[in-house]
Amino acid sequence: ATILVLHGPNLNMLGVREPGVYGATSLERIDQDLQRRAADAGHRLVCLQSNAEHELIDRIHAAHGEGVDFILINPAAFTHTSVALRDALLAVSIPFIEVHLSNVHKRESFRHHSYFSDVAVGVICGLGASGYRLALEAALEQLAAS
Ligand code: DQA
Repeated sequence: ATILVLHGPNLNMLGVREPGVYGATSLERIDQDLQRRAADAGHRLVCLQSNAEHELIDRIHAAHGEGVDFILINPAAFTHTSVALRDALLAVSIPFIEVHLSNVHKRESFRHHSYFSDVAVGVICGLGASGYRLALEAALEQLAAS
């Protein structure tokens, strides 16, 4: 199967950006680990980080044509703002897991609402970079069951 991993704005700064909140692991490292695990399980995993909402939307649309089977997405700040990204995911009907490094519920109230959680297969937050690995394990289980 093919799994797409999407990272929203400012996640290119991981490792540098507020390490007390987001951890010391770089995005490159997170993506490499996911790629290795997916390959070991016999799957293909592709990643994209973008600071631009339209690039993430275009990538989701392209995923439809490519036959992507599952998406892991950390929409970052777009979590709390983007009806357009939500609609893109609904448009392609590709199941997805929402991931956040930080526990958004422990933070400012504007981070408590997500435009994605009610349409996601599941949500992982507050577990740092491990959250991505756990999300991938869940995705692999879902794919095996489908
Ligand atoms: C985040 C949480 C968001 O509130 C924030 O805007 C981010 C990252 C997380 O991974 O914890 O950029 O999605």
